[in-house]
Amino acid sequence: MKIRIFDTTLRDGEQTPGVALTPEQKLGIAEKLDALGVDAIEAGFPIISDGEMQGIKLICNANFRAEICGLARTDKKDIDAAVTAGLKYIHTFIATSDIHLKYKLKLTRDQALAKAIEAVEYGKSLGLQVEFSAEDATRTDREFLKKVFKEVANAGADRIDIPDTVGYSTPGYIAEITKDAIEATHLPISVHCHNDFGLAVANAISAIQVGAQCAHVTINGIGERAGNASLEELVMALQCLQFDKKYETNINTKLLYETSRYVSSIVGIHVQPNKAIVGENAFGHESGIHTHGVLSNPLTYEPISPELVGRTRWFQVGKHAGAHGVSAMLEEYGIQPTREQTHEILERVKKLGDQGKHVTDVELLSITGEVMQTQGLKRLVHLTGFSVSTGMGNMPYAFVKLNIEGKDFIGTDYGVGPVDASINAIQKITGEIAKVRIKDYKLDSIAGGSDALCEVTIKVEDAYGNLASAKSVGEDIVITSVQAMIDGINRIMLKKILKQKNLGK
Ligand code: KIV
Ligand code: ZN
Repeated sequence: MKIRIFDTTLRDGEQTPGVALTPEQKLGIAEKLDALGVDAIEAGFPIISDGEMQGIKLICNANFRAEICGLARTDKKDIDAAVTAGLKYIHTFIATSDIHLKYKLKLTRDQALAKAIEAVEYGKSLGLQVEFSAEDATRTDREFLKKVFKEVANAGADRIDIPDTVGYSTPGYIAEITKDAIEATHLPISVHCHNDFGLAVANAISAIQVGAQCAHVTINGIGERAGNASLEELVMALQCLQFDKKYETNINTKLLYETSRYVSSIVGIHVQPNKAIVGENAFGHESGIHTHGVLSNPLTYEPISPELVGRTRWFQVGKHAGAHGVSAMLEEYGIQPTREQTHEILERVKKLGDQGKHVTDVELLSITGEVMQTQGLKRLVHLTGFSVSTGMGNMPYAFVKLNIEGKDFIGTDYGVGPVDASINAIQKITGEIAKVRIKDYKLDSIAGGSDALCEVTIKVEDAYGNLASAKSVGEDIVITSVQAMIDGINRIMLKKILKQKNLGK
């Protein structure tokens, strides 16, 4: 059975605290969503601002394959704004729970019902496709909800949506009211589940199992408070888990990771590392037992293949590592230590882990170099001099001195800030020598306060498309960024050189 994916990243997703998108950013995200294969894009809420209106217009004019929808309260002016934006499909809503009626809308149930009917009739009279949502449906009196759905269906609604506005439903209850809605309207039913109790995807699946044909979702599960059902989790669960029926979507799952990264960078909300499907750790393995299993057969500890969602698996060594994991990681660099050497490397890695240290590839390789007494495994790039000037009225400027395989190089450059200037100066040197350029830069603060530690994660790429990332933690943002960059460069250069030399074979 085909499930319709209604993406609301640009509407409910944009309601995430702290997120605001320009019209061009909205268009950029809509392009990605369309390429991903969503069936409908809720482009925004046209009445709220001029920029929102402009963004929706851009999306309406882009000739996407996906249907474009916009949100409207059950007010004529909202629906007129949707028409002005160029929309042919509206999602109109009014709250139906007593708590919303009494404290927010100050309307009786009958008054709310009358407004719902009037809005649906008005939308239809303008030739629009109308999807009707009973906001806070899951806390609405069940008989009244049925009545509302029945009457808006009679008024001409094309689709009915059941919003679990505060994530209050259980999978069992949403299944019951979905059955009610189908019985009362015989229309296609959507579900719009929020994640306040971490049940958004489970609730959406439960509704789908009893006949809902569409789910409202967002990329990375962003949205009000704890967010909405996440598109990537729902789509992969429908495709890969065991159900009585077979479910399909139009999503090109290979684009899921890329889309998640794109949205995360534009909205400025990081994806938690342990997030299903798109989190950094979703296909990473550290423990010896798991690494051993995955190396024998990935299905032992991976329910789906990472390639299916546009990702690759990775291994990391640490205190839980085993000999198989260490060997596999070194094998990537063409290094084959003896059994005894592998055990010694492992011992040192575990010691670092016990001290709370995260062991990067570079550190693993330098430990391996010491154990195997191999010159080639040492760091190739050393930072030997560094200064940066910043302030008001003049552009930040950096001077960097690197020693690469025994030769000194000097790089200077400007930037929009001291970090940018330093990284530009490093890239001036390494861009020529190793064709390494920065692909991704992420700065996090650990705990609060002006003396907080910062964590910089950097991803670098060489001319052959090899990627490496490195992380550094410190007190000074500029120095920590420079250290992460140098680590990343070391990592990628070692990978390339050692692969070429095929050391240890
Ligand atoms: O969560 C919700 O109830 C909504 C409505 C606008 C449908 O987002
Ligand atoms: Zn919502």
